[in-house]
Amino acid sequence: MAKKNQTLGEFIIENQASFKYTSGELSRLINSIRLAAKVVNHEVNKAGLVDIIGAAGETNIQGEDQQKLDVYANDKFIQTLTNRNIVCGIASEEEDDFIIVNSQDENHQNKYVVLIDPLDGSSNIDVNVSVGTIFSVYRRITPVGTPVKLEDFLQKGSEQVAAGYVVYGTSTMLVYTTGDGVNGFTLNPAIGTFYLSHPNMQFPEDGKIYSVNEGNYIHFPIGVKKYIKYCQEEEGDRPYTSRYIGSLVSDFHRNMIKGGIYMYPKSSKNSNGKLRLLYECNPMAFLAEQAKGKASDGFNRIMDVQPTELHQRIPFFCGSKNMVEKAEEFMKEYSE
Ligand code: AHG
Ligand code: MN
Ligand code: MN
Repeated sequence: MAKKNQTLGEFIIENQASFKYTSGELSRLINSIRLAAKVVNHEVNKAGLVDIIGAAGETNIQGEDQQKLDVYANDKFIQTLTNRNIVCGIASEEEDDFIIVNSQDENHQNKYVVLIDPLDGSSNIDVNVSVGTIFSVYRRITPVGTPVKLEDFLQKGSEQVAAGYVVYGTSTMLVYTTGDGVNGFTLNPAIGTFYLSHPNMQFPEDGKIYSVNEGNYIHFPIGVKKYIKYCQEEEGDRPYTSRYIGSLVSDFHRNMIKGGIYMYPKSSKNSNGKLRLLYECNPMAFLAEQAKGKASDGFNRIMDVQPTELHQRIPFFCGSKNMVEKAEEFMKEYSE
């Protein structure tokens, strides 16, 4: 039972038994993500000081201070998950190929693979706007004891055993699901501990916020254009409010709390949209469904899509159930 103000560490231990595969491996995995999140958080918070630190750090021959934050975040998450021998494979938005994690003493005995967008919304770093990290966890399908293969990563979203995100915002939060609802933990930076602040998070069934990059309007499919016009019409509880941060994690987080829809449709310039199925859409879809929301490519459930490549992109409509269903109605009616 989730108790407010419980620490994330306590919550993980208490809920370990309720998870259907109770080897403790998944708990260790979430623990490592918690640790890496704290390290990355520390660095993200210093982003505005980068020039100052860089100048002071010129004596550092490693040049580590100058590293771009998305590369830094990528390295930290990969290091944490490999050093502690937690997973058998990692795929990252920042890496061309997946990484086979060799466990020295057990020889590929780990069961889980992790897929990660280490820094989401990275263009917001320079302007002190919230960014995030997104992660997604699957059980491998190839036999334990052998190196992981591409097929371990190309599983449908419906096979996820855990997913979550960290939002480095006005406060830093870790929000995740293991298939039993969604819980949010807020970091107390003074002591470096995450506390359960948002138990059992749920999307309101209806919402009044739509989040889309309207600068691309001219390139959107007719169904999306009509839906945007519908959001802007004066009728009932409309017009809705438009809010777009440009960092999926932050837009999703706000919409889950307040009620809303996030859209990254295909356009005449990008036939599959921009967002990545494996690192962004599937984990967010799992969280959305666990929070009573919905995630679709405009026509079908995101988590039913069979991935064919690691860096695959897909149109994304996600948020309050009734809003996503309304958008789907428009997509269907005006499908080209
Ligand atoms: P990333 O920083 O990991 O590449 O992801 C950015 C994504 C997503 O977070 C955001 O919603 C979207 O790109 C913004 O794209 P536009 O600038 O095209 O609106
Ligand atoms: Mn991203
Ligand atoms: Mn990214």
